[in-house]
Amino acid sequence: MEQTLARNTGRAMVPGTFDPITEGHIDVIKRASRLFKEIIVAVAESPRKGSGPIFSLEQRVELASKALKDLDNVTVKPFKGLLVDFAAENNVQVVVKGLRAVTDFEAEFQMSALNYNLDPNLETIFIMSIPENMYLSSSAVKEIAFNKGNVKGLVPQVVGEALSKITGCRY
Ligand code: PNS
Repeated sequence: MEQTLARNTGRAMVPGTFDPITEGHIDVIKRASRLFKEIIVAVAESPRKGSGPIFSLEQRVELASKALKDLDNVTVKPFKGLLVDFAAENNVQVVVKGLRAVTDFEAEFQMSALNYNLDPNLETIFIMSIPENMYLSSSAVKEIAFNKGNVKGLVPQVVGEALSKITGCRY
């Protein structure tokens, strides 16, 4: 029998590498937290992404937890391995992802199709980025930080401080 989705648990997850969490992620998570009873922000180990994350998995979880501390239905958890396995372990049937410009679409389309093949009961939905955040990505933030630019307004204060320690950037 087909499972009923969000109505079962009211729990969804927002997965990502969050290296580091940006104001764009926070906006999507906030909006997701108004749609579901409970949100798990799932921080992926992502060891093979690009040249590897600049923050460790533990640091990324800590930064995201601090940045999201005011949202009382949001918890932050690390995960290693497949998203579908983490979803099943946490009784989550809905994945929420942010979508910025058309450039995100290809990769997101592929990920949702792969996840569907791995577990057809896991539904992926998208929240469109607000116009101010369409350009914002963790990679862009790191590029600015490593070139000693100002990351103010792009990341929460706690992330700005952590980036500044590594790169000497302003925030
Ligand atoms: O923020 P990102 O890096 O775009 O997030 C991508 C992420 C972490 C959601 C994706 O890479 C992921 O789900 N990784 C876990 C491994 C997995 O399940 N891969 C198969 C689906 S692509």
